[in-house]
Amino acid sequence: MTHTYRRTLVTTALPYANGPVHLGHLAGVYLPADIYVRYKRLCGDDIIHIGGSDEHGVPITITADREGISPQDVVDRYHKMNAEAFAKCGISFDYYGRTSSAVHHETAKEFFAEIERKGIFVRKTEKQFFDATAGRFLSDRYITGTCPVCNSPGANGDQCEQCGTHLSPTELIDPKSKLSDATPELRETLHWYFPLGRYQKLLEDYVERHSGEWRSNVVNYSKTWLNQGLAERAITRDLSWGISLPLDSVEAQGKVLYVWFDAVLGYISFTKEWAERQGDPLLWKRYWQDPETRIINFIGKDNVVFHTLMFPAILMAWNDERSEGRYELADNVPASEFMNFEGRKFSKSRNYAVYLGEFLERFPADTLRYSIAMNYPENKDSDFSWVDFQNRTNGELADTLGNFIKRSVDFTNARFDAEVPCDLSFDEWDNLGIDWLESFCRLEAAYEGFHFRDAVSQTMDIARFANRYLTESEPWKVIKVDREAAGRAMAVSLNLCHSLALLLYPVLPETSNRIWRMLGFEGTIDDLVEPGKVVWRKALEPGLKKGHKLLGTSEILFTKIEQKDIEPELKKIEALLAEARRCEASEKQTTTTFKPEITIEDFQKVDLRVARVIGCEPVKKAAKLLKLKLQVGSEERQVLSGIAQHYKPEEMVGKQVVLVANLAERTMRGEVSQGMILAVEGEEGQLFILEPQGKSINGKPVE
Ligand code: 2FM
Ligand code: ZN
Repeated sequence: MTHTYRRTLVTTALPYANGPVHLGHLAGVYLPADIYVRYKRLCGDDIIHIGGSDEHGVPITITADREGISPQDVVDRYHKMNAEAFAKCGISFDYYGRTSSAVHHETAKEFFAEIERKGIFVRKTEKQFFDATAGRFLSDRYITGTCPVCNSPGANGDQCEQCGTHLSPTELIDPKSKLSDATPELRETLHWYFPLGRYQKLLEDYVERHSGEWRSNVVNYSKTWLNQGLAERAITRDLSWGISLPLDSVEAQGKVLYVWFDAVLGYISFTKEWAERQGDPLLWKRYWQDPETRIINFIGKDNVVFHTLMFPAILMAWNDERSEGRYELADNVPASEFMNFEGRKFSKSRNYAVYLGEFLERFPADTLRYSIAMNYPENKDSDFSWVDFQNRTNGELADTLGNFIKRSVDFTNARFDAEVPCDLSFDEWDNLGIDWLESFCRLEAAYEGFHFRDAVSQTMDIARFANRYLTESEPWKVIKVDREAAGRAMAVSLNLCHSLALLLYPVLPETSNRIWRMLGFEGTIDDLVEPGKVVWRKALEPGLKKGHKLLGTSEILFTKIEQKDIEPELKKIEALLAEARRCEASEKQTTTTFKPEITIEDFQKVDLRVARVIGCEPVKKAAKLLKLKLQVGSEERQVLSGIAQHYKPEEMVGKQVVLVANLAERTMRGEVSQGMILAVEGEEGQLFILEPQGKSINGKPVE
């Protein structure tokens, strides 16, 4: 389906204001978006780039607790730091907002209130971990424990960083509160759930409609979720940091919106703030509520379903009759894979990262933009390495591009009085050996298809061609015998400089502007862009006429990176890698060694059953034993269990347990035990009984 759009809205995932952005973030989201936006601006498109900080969420309060400062202090620090780093890197946001702003709080509350008013949310009481020492409900991230899948200690309540498994806190082995290190207890709390399932069909249609156009990773992640059937998702949390619910009722007190419910709406809030700044407060509606706007959300692969299912579902809930205005859904959600760093995943928690701001203190933005664009993790994970960065800077940027531009400008300055020596006919231009039209079509297709590595490498091919052309034309020799021919070679070279300045602008904006200046233009390429004005295609033609005056001086565009410049970085990496390996080794040591293998038949001999504790009392003169009365289907059993130091008898009654039902009877302290219940031993010797959570499963076999 082709569709012509009148304008484009680009959004980039809002990074948490909980730490500095690193090169992985830049590679996956912000640089590709910026390249795209700059390209479209050159094409004369009406396009805006909206981004900002995600300032809510538990990691922020964890940082605040750890540092003994307020969450506001944390987000103030990192919002400023990240906004500055992006600016220094040339990421040209039209607006960079913050989800702590008043406009955003209002917008998010308005969405919640509207969906609540229509009765779409479901309220449910659930059991949640509560830290009695700290007097607080614990959100997933505040709970840590051993991963039930890979056995690594230190897994979070929502995910194990080691094996990547998504978890719920109750699945953790030996859960602990990060606040007090206490073992948390389960308590009841009320939450608002968004019934994603209600939009299942609409979301399926939405994903299907775009499945030919979206990247396969985006379609696949979304379909995996859709195929499992969409469940209700809690969109409130018991926390003090965040957007409070716009309800007066007692049960809404102390609750805030789940960070993902609020974050995605940040795109809308920030567009409102941008519009306000343009002096036209309603302008935002044109970008969100007009089918002729193309909306593109640039994100990393870990954010896919929030953008292809959850955000659209929120907008669908709004769009369900009886609300003012209809929101448009994203047309494309280009999600990147990850960029690794020296062969390993970036990890903030391990400090295995290169932070953008720090990087730019040492090296120029454009060299980074180039290396990263050439390693854009479009379809598979890619890698950033210092040596690759050094090679690309020294080879492609300095030796090829920089060298070509400088030689062209210097020779013209020296021998042709800083003037373009002659006009070029279109024939001459077309016969150079570049099929301009074909190259442009390929380039444009690469940009439009979000294939940024292709786009940049095609552009660099033109720089290579130009450099070769100049070398082979040898104007410094030719001028001795044929000044006119040398002049023509310089006119060609300078026009290639002109084309390259424009073509490189999406990826190397600062360099392009410097070339522009050396070519004698006033102002910058940025000054040329405006909606409706096609600057991009000017690169197709020889743009410099005979007599055009250059600036008269030149500058070195790229300084080579010497070994000593990256040596400290390589050393740092070595140390970090060694540290990471040590961590891994010690984690491995804590993993269990297993008993000798058994066959399935061996296992099937054990009759495991779900039972309910219907009575429980201590055993005289046996400090460790509890006597349990169990209901197992239609039968009653008495079982002795060595859990008396870990569970009180009254605590046990009502619990479901797993019983080894065919274990031979034993007598202990004069009491008979007809089986055994399963428990796990924690690191410090605590025992945790296994409690199956299902309903109506009493007496059922555990298989
Ligand atoms: O993954 C993250 O860093 C989130 N803060 C991204 C949010 S994207 C959007 F929803 F705002
Ligand atoms: Zn794990």
